[in-house]
Amino acid sequence: MIQAIRGTKDILPDTISHWYYVEETARKVSELFGYKEIRTPIFEKTEVFARGVGEQTDIVNKEMYTFTDRGGDSITLRPEMTAALVRAVIQNSLVQQQAISRLWYFGAFFRYERPQKGRLRQFHQFGAECISSPYPESDAEIIHLAATFCKALGIQDYLLLINTLGNENSRSEYRKVLVDYLSANKNHLSSESKNRLETNPLRVLDSKDEQDREVISNAPNILDCLDEESRQHFQKVLEILDYLNIPYKINSRLVRGLDYYSHTVFELQHNSLGAQDSFGGGGRYNSLFSQLGGKDTPAVGFAMGVERLLLILESIGKLPAPDVFADYYIVSANSDYSNIAFKIAEKFRLSGKRVICDVQRRSMKAQMREAGKLNIPYVIIIAEEELKQNAVVLKNMSDGSQQIIEIDKL
Ligand code: HAM
Repeated sequence: MIQAIRGTKDILPDTISHWYYVEETARKVSELFGYKEIRTPIFEKTEVFARGVGEQTDIVNKEMYTFTDRGGDSITLRPEMTAALVRAVIQNSLVQQQAISRLWYFGAFFRYERPQKGRLRQFHQFGAECISSPYPESDAEIIHLAATFCKALGIQDYLLLINTLGNENSRSEYRKVLVDYLSANKNHLSSESKNRLETNPLRVLDSKDEQDREVISNAPNILDCLDEESRQHFQKVLEILDYLNIPYKINSRLVRGLDYYSHTVFELQHNSLGAQDSFGGGGRYNSLFSQLGGKDTPAVGFAMGVERLLLILESIGKLPAPDVFADYYIVSANSDYSNIAFKIAEKFRLSGKRVICDVQRRSMKAQMREAGKLNIPYVIIIAEEELKQNAVVLKNMSDGSQQIIEIDKL
């Protein structure tokens, strides 16, 4: 038997309603905030992510599905949306004269990671990006959208971690201080962190290694390196969150794994997820547009992992109840009546009712049994006796009551 690729999952009919529910909620909440959906191709030129996400990140270094196509171009299955979306916004001139562009998306993404609970090689994200405003109000709007979405799903007990990386100046100032400190403590760092110290020092703060954690706990704090502009930006974001009663925790070690961030970064965590406890994340990315060849355009956004959201919903008992297959099942006592069954079904479907007819020429008993098994609330029985009066039997499956109804009056 041919098996699906490791780290991928078939979404089967018995859980598809969960997916509809999350996607529908994402659409509704995004629309409430004035966001419009964007869909971009599932693959891009590799440079979109190499330049956008950053050559030194784990995603680009170790996790991308990259191949050379028959034309000799290097192609990558998108590992995330932000860089691809920025490419699309630039190419289609979606932002003109600083007009704001509010976009949301829902789709499949690909990362070659070690599969485990909540971590797949093909996974799905819902995300939103607010493009064109340099102001903290748009950071707050994005976080407010994320929080409203969680609330709409009934997810309350999550942790919103927030930090700022400051502007270009503050970040490079901090980088210097941090590199000095880490270099002085290099001997106590893991080999991976030693490498990161050379390539991407801020990412050392993300290390889960015990030995590293100790060094990190005494590392200089980015919040002490902020200039006035960066400080004010962060303060205003927090002020709006406070005013909206959105709880958060400042974590000055939060740096996120993608290179494009500046100013606000945040992550959403839920303790039901185990090791992969982060179910969403985002932040501001003011230099991504210019890195991808566009005009300098400030922007901020977030993405959430749909598989992780579903795990949370399951653990807190908030998944929607399974939907029934149909509203009516038409049982034909005889396959000669299938024309009539189809005609009745058509009439019901035209008025929006979901109808199943037998197509296996099974006995009446078998059809009734199936209707019962599928929990279908009503059955219409086409049988010889009633047909003589151009009528059928309508049976209510929950209380067993039945009545004879003329076909024209159905
Ligand atoms: P990210 O933190 O890499 O950010 O991914 C966002 C979310 O996608 C994660 O919190 C997680 O729930 C989910 N996710 C990531 N990798 C996997 C995986 N292998 N399996 C299952 N779920 C996964 C971004 O992707 C940024 N583009 C977010 C953003 C938008 N920043 C600004 N705008």
